[in-house]
Amino acid sequence: MLCHLVFCFHCLCNSSYILLLSTALVSMHSPAHGATCSDCFTQSRAAHYRNSDENGTDIGACGFGSFGATIHGGDVSAASDLYRNGLGCGACYQVRCTSGYYCTDKGVTVVITDQGSGHGTDFILTRRAFTRMAQTSDAAASLLALGVVDIEYRRVSCSYPYKNITIKIDESSSSPHYLGFVIWYQQGKRDITAVQLCETQNFVCKLLDRSYGAVWTTTSPPSGSLSLRMLFSDEDGDEEWVVPVNNIPQDWKAGETYDTGVQVNL
Ligand SMILES: *[C@@H]1O[C@H](CO)[C@@H](O)[C@H](O)[C@H]1NC(C)=O
Ligand SMILES: *[C@@H]1O[C@H](CO)[C@@H](O)[C@H](O)[C@H]1NC(C)=O
Repeated sequence: MLCHLVFCFHCLCNSSYILLLSTALVSMHSPAHGATCSDCFTQSRAAHYRNSDENGTDIGACGFGSFGATIHGGDVSAASDLYRNGLGCGACYQVRCTSGYYCTDKGVTVVITDQGSGHGTDFILTRRAFTRMAQTSDAAASLLALGVVDIEYRRVSCSYPYKNITIKIDESSSSPHYLGFVIWYQQGKRDITAVQLCETQNFVCKLLDRSYGAVWTTTSPPSGSLSLRMLFSDEDGDEEWVVPVNNIPQDWKAGETYDTGVQVNL
């Protein structure tokens, strides 16, 4: 599969925009070769949330808030080991139960928004996502009654058509002493492993801390209009800094969302 990647880099030197087109041969997996198995399914088990809500919980460990409960139409999940200390927040997985009697081949694609485990499960799906693995509504009722089912899963690209990567400023942020935010609508199959904020005036950059889940913070945010940089890393160690076209404005506000003006498919 040949993937064409398009990035926008904000050129700090003269404040003009340079559009860089980069073509990369990302992967050539085919079952016939089988040298790498990132597309293979892993056997595990999955349970579902016991709350009455269909969707996830807005107190999910990733820190996504209510977005984490309803993103992807509510097809979200808590992960145990795959939570990876918060690095796994926002990653997408295809999960399918393995009973040929109840389950579809396709299963469901979920986004990790929370941490949780129990009964040897890798995933605790929302009831909505759990039932979407079933062939019929009767089968869905049977799966729910079982509570925990055998599944297989694999990481897949996240897809948010018509959405740019968006920054949601934490409610507890307060200029100039604390800035925290989460990153919404990250497409693709990579992890965001580092985030920098740079002053657009004198180019001073600051590496942010991952305080928990998907929440990036700093106690002394740079001043002025801020240019964001996100490091996307894949499991093979390939890394790519992405610099959005839009800056976070100087007068950023707690609770606000800011469209970065870019999307990736890494
Ligand atoms: C679940 O999420 C969907 C999709 O965002 C939303 O339309 C629905 O209102 C949510 N349901 C509840 C109970 O919050
Ligand atoms: C994404 O950003 C571009 C600018 O880079 C803008 O033209 C477009 O409208 C944005 N898309 C959405 C869905 O907001």
